[in-house]
Amino acid sequence: MSELIIGSRIIRLERVDSTNNYVKRMLPTLPDGAIVIADEQTHGKGRGGHEWISCPGKGLTFSVRLSVPADDRAVPLFNLFPAVAIVNCLRSLKIAAQIKWPNDIFMNGRKLGGILVETVSTSVKINVILGVGLNVNTELSDFPVPLRHIAGSLKSISGQEYNIKVIFKKMIQFFNQLYDKVQTENGWRSLRQKWNDYCLHINRPINVSQKNGVTTGIFTGVDEYGFAVIKSKGQQFTLRDCAHISLREDYDTCN
Ligand code: BTN
Repeated sequence: MSELIIGSRIIRLERVDSTNNYVKRMLPTLPDGAIVIADEQTHGKGRGGHEWISCPGKGLTFSVRLSVPADDRAVPLFNLFPAVAIVNCLRSLKIAAQIKWPNDIFMNGRKLGGILVETVSTSVKINVILGVGLNVNTELSDFPVPLRHIAGSLKSISGQEYNIKVIFKKMIQFFNQLYDKVQTENGWRSLRQKWNDYCLHINRPINVSQKNGVTTGIFTGVDEYGFAVIKSKGQQFTLRDCAHISLREDYDTCN
C-alpha cells in the first residue's frame, strides 16, 4: 500500500484560469496527492497547445499534484495512469470507454475526456501535474460547432444525468486504487497491460503525424517505459506522447 492518498487535500475553486496552472503556482504549498478542482476554467489547456473547452458545472475539471525522484524513469507512465483510472471508473458506471493514444477517453467515436500531464523539475524531484477534463452532463449543443461531431459526454452516451460530486468521489477512489497498485513490484507492468486492453486502436493501422511528416504503421501497444510501439514496413519504432496519431480505416500493407 502506498502512504500517499490522492485527494488527502482538495481545493475547490469556482473559477480559475486553469487548474494545472493553479497547481503550478501553488506547488510549494501543496502536498503530494493534493487535488485542485474548479467549476469553471477561463483558459483551460489541452495537449499540444490546444484549448480545453468545458461547460461550467457540466463536467469535471481537476488537477492532481504528485512527485517522483528526479531520476525516476516512470514519468512517461504518468501519461497512461490517469487514463486507465478514468476508464476503470467509467466501466464501473457501465460506460465502456476506451483510450486513444496517449490518454484521450473515447466512446462511440467521440472524445469524452482528455488529460494534460505537465512536469516541473527541480534537482531532486519531478513534480507531476495530472490535469483531467471529463465531459459529464454536457449536451452536444453545448459544444462549439466545430466540436459537435467529435466530442461527447457521459450523458450523450447513456442518456442519463449524473451527479458530478458523486462521479468525482468515485474517480478519486479509482485513482487511489490504481496508484496503490502501481507502487507494487509488478504494478507498472499491470498498468501497461490494462492500457493495452483499453486501447481503441491496438493492432490497428494508424497514421503518425510528427514534425517531419506522416508515417503509417500498426499500433502494437505501449512498452514498459510508457512509449507507444509502432510497427512499420517490417521495423519497429517508439513514440513519445507528443506525437499525434489518427486511425486509418484500411488494413493495407503498412505493416
Ligand atoms: C486534451 O485532451 O487535450 C487534454 C485536456 C486536459 C484538460 C484538463 S481540465 C483540468 C486541467 N486544467 C487544464 O487547463 N487542463 C486540464
